[in-house]
Amino acid sequence: MAEYETILTETDGAVGIVTLNRPKALNALSAQLVDELVDALGAFDADPAIGCMIITGSEKAFAAGADITEMATKSFWDAFGDDFLAKWDRVGTMRKPVIAAVQGFALGGGCEIAMMCDFIIAADTAKFGQPEINLGVIPGVGGTQRLTRAIGKAKAMDMVLTGRMMSAEEAERSGLVSRVVPAAELMDEAKKAAATIASRSLPSVLAGKESVNRAFETTLSEGCRFERRIFHGLFATDDQKEGMAAFVEKRKPSFRNR
Ligand code: CAA
Repeated sequence: MAEYETILTETDGAVGIVTLNRPKALNALSAQLVDELVDALGAFDADPAIGCMIITGSEKAFAAGADITEMATKSFWDAFGDDFLAKWDRVGTMRKPVIAAVQGFALGGGCEIAMMCDFIIAADTAKFGQPEINLGVIPGVGGTQRLTRAIGKAKAMDMVLTGRMMSAEEAERSGLVSRVVPAAELMDEAKKAAATIASRSLPSVLAGKESVNRAFETTLSEGCRFERRIFHGLFATDDQKEGMAAFVEKRKPSFRNR
């Protein structure tokens, strides 16, 4: 892995972990941090020894949003000309699953990065919000789109227009996060989920992720057709033979990712 200044990287078995690490700025997402995050995720995604990734932050903040000091003086042309924030989308383009493990503030771009992940596991201390309206702007990396798809129009409008924060409990009830756990158990829970995913057959993991994501991009009938073709395709893998033979023989499968 490259040397990074704003993130930490580590591996735990087949799990690649990126920890956002600008504690003095509550992990505000500077251009450098986003560059490093995208680079580290890309390296894990390409590493055959890694089967799943986790993005996490600190106890106080997953990330408190885009770095306001960096963008405060930007002109329209600075933002439009450089396609400001376009690079952030790459977080959502990894082929292997990415879990967000969130404690503390996940605000603005922090909430948006968490929503680019495949699912969010939250500590009971997590607070989610899209407070950009307080700064005279709106979310810029999918907040109005992914939040609306996750929690529906009424709550998304409430969050985006008032800028209020949502507790972990409300976020779970609303469908934004998959599980809420005590803060002390967050990383264990996230690592356990990631290790479980990494132990499955990679072709079926990639196929499952791609198929769920297709649900957001297409009609029901097209989505089901896409799913069925991918399902058929998995019968060409050794791992399908192994997985089903292991079930019949009442033993654990030994997947070889092919
Ligand atoms: N950018 C830059 N610096 C930030 C920051 C941000 N988004 N959020 C926090 N910080 C800095 C603070 O300026 C402060 O720095 P100093 O110690 O040098 O003054 C430090 O982090 C600690 O923050 P606070 O003292 O404010 O801590 P708090 O506990 O009193 O409040 C908070 C925490 C409610 C999260 C508050 O920091 C806050 O409101 N932050 C801004 C949240 C925000 O508006 N996020 C949206 C950004 S816009 C965006 O993300 C656009 C997009 O769609 C991509």
